[in-house]
Amino acid sequence: MKKPPPKTSNCFKTGLNSIRSHFSTHPRFWLFIAFLWIQALIISIARTPPPCFPDRTSAVQYIPQPQNVVVLSSENVTKPEPPPPTYTEECPSGRIYAYDLPSMFNKDLVLPNCTDLQSWNWECGIITNHGYGAAATELRRVLPEDLYKSWYRTNQFTSEVIFHHRILKHKCRTIEPEYATAFYIPFYAGLAVGKHLWMNDTSKRDWHCKMMLKWVKQQKHWKKFNGSDHFMTIGRITWDFRRLTDPGKVWGSSFLNMPSMQKVTRFIIEKAPLEEQDVSVPYPTGFHPKTIDSLKEWQGFIRNYTRERLFTFTVTNPNLPSDDFRGLLSSYCRNEKDLCWLVDCGASDCLTDLSVTLKPLLGSEFCLLPREDSVTSRSVFDCMIAGSIPVFFWKGTAYEQYEWYLPGEPESYSVFIDHEAVRNGTSLVKEVLMKYSKEDIKKKREKVIETIPRIIYAKPNGGVRSFKDAFDVALDGVLERIKEEKEWADFL
Ligand SMILES: *[C@@H]1O[C@H](CO)[C@@H](O)[C@H](O)[C@H]1NC(C)=O
Ligand SMILES: *[C@@H]1O[C@H](CO)[C@@H](O)[C@H](O)[C@H]1NC(C)=O
Ligand SMILES: *[C@@H]1O[C@H](CO)[C@@H](O)[C@H](O)[C@H]1NC(C)=O
Ligand SMILES: *[C@@H]1O[C@H](CO)[C@@H](O)[C@H](O)[C@H]1NC(C)=O
Ligand SMILES: *[C@@H]1O[C@H](CO)[C@@H](O)[C@H](O)[C@H]1NC(C)=O
Ligand SMILES: *[C@@H]1O[C@H](CO)[C@@H](O)[C@H](O)[C@H]1NC(C)=O
Repeated sequence: MKKPPPKTSNCFKTGLNSIRSHFSTHPRFWLFIAFLWIQALIISIARTPPPCFPDRTSAVQYIPQPQNVVVLSSENVTKPEPPPPTYTEECPSGRIYAYDLPSMFNKDLVLPNCTDLQSWNWECGIITNHGYGAAATELRRVLPEDLYKSWYRTNQFTSEVIFHHRILKHKCRTIEPEYATAFYIPFYAGLAVGKHLWMNDTSKRDWHCKMMLKWVKQQKHWKKFNGSDHFMTIGRITWDFRRLTDPGKVWGSSFLNMPSMQKVTRFIIEKAPLEEQDVSVPYPTGFHPKTIDSLKEWQGFIRNYTRERLFTFTVTNPNLPSDDFRGLLSSYCRNEKDLCWLVDCGASDCLTDLSVTLKPLLGSEFCLLPREDSVTSRSVFDCMIAGSIPVFFWKGTAYEQYEWYLPGEPESYSVFIDHEAVRNGTSLVKEVLMKYSKEDIKKKREKVIETIPRIIYAKPNGGVRSFKDAFDVALDGVLERIKEEKEWADFL
């Protein structure tokens, strides 16, 4: 009853070939195949594939510990306290253990006295409401009915706090490290490093990172795989942690250059291209619905909203260099008043009054998203959540980030206009955008609306939710990734 080798995902294909010559002589191989066959049978009966990446159609299953196999075949073996099954219907890729780190690596890094956003201090409001921020009650005047209740003044650098909180409450969390597939390191690296980014002392930017790694490397469960089954969340962009690969070797910490970090998966709001351990996750925005009904209500609201302008542009940084592309767009917008809605966050407080940015995004068909200080920004998500269609000017902006989240075909949900062509006058923004018919626009908007659940951080209400948000997509993905790696380590 020889069966063909299990279907595997691409990244393991080459590995498979290289071991093909060895494995058929290995006794555990046949055990594995028998087990696989039973699994495949169960799966074919019971499984409905989830709708989204990461791909879970792989038929490879975890190889159980040998004693489990023995139990299957022999009648009466008594075992003291059998471990719970590694994979269950509720947790198909296993469980997570979250380290209880010394508070110097997380809680102590949070400013205690600064609970609402303040434009002069990026650290404010980070911990409020478990990272979701204070309620944005100002939207009561702007949004109908109860829609404002899903909105919060959320700090854009708070993903490390939100993830930590959500993992502690996760249904697949275990407090027994022996039963874990994956290990979470709740280190607030964004806060630890961010505090020292604008000071000259690079050793301060590295200190917490070094101490944390020293701590975690002493843990029994780190040593087993040298960190490849560990993951964390970093609330600032990747370039703040790669000083040794920075051209001038000046900016940021060297955390992600440290050898011990090379196998650790990290969720980060902007990743380095081609860096497999960096997984980009959406910036936290202010929209955090508590139930699927609030989400659907919002989707209906933005679908029907009357959008009177063609496009909007938000200036988030009022002190731009004179030749900056954003300056060019803002004067263009000023000259096209009937078509463009300009928001100047230097003149109005965009942080504490969300209506300043939300109203124009709701009222425009498209929103212009040039590069900010790095290739991507929170504005991408603010735009899409308001049902406005993103217009990008650089290919690297969002198209090469957020693979787990944004639709694969850029033209299905966005518009691309080359910034060079805008600069030299070959492309006029309004001419490009006016070429799209009402029908085209509607189609793109539907795609944007369909994407929203995956790019937001829902506010779990008593743990009951019926849709997968950005956090769920991240967790499912990393567990799947680590599970597959462990299967291969066992298999070889
Ligand atoms: C199986 O184990 C139980 C409890 O240890 C014992 O009472 C029973 O007699 C055993 N049965 C057989 C068939 O060995
Ligand atoms: C927080 O603010 C209160 C009142 O403004 C002040 O008494 C206290 O010392 C502050 N604590 C810290 C840690 O700054
Ligand atoms: C930082 O250090 C460099 C040289 O090490 C020095 O030129 C510069 O003035 C320093 N900047 C500040 C803000 O201290
Ligand atoms: C982990 O790293 C140590 C030291 O570099 C090495 O001796 C060991 O083989 C590694 N273990 C694994 C599982 O990679
Ligand atoms: C949207 O508009 C359609 C047609 O006018 C209407 O039937 C529907 O109830 C509206 N939906 C919402 C959520 O307002
Ligand atoms: C303007 O820029 C575009 C895109 O880079 C280029 O294809 C085009 O040839 C340029 N036109 C002129 C007149 O420079």
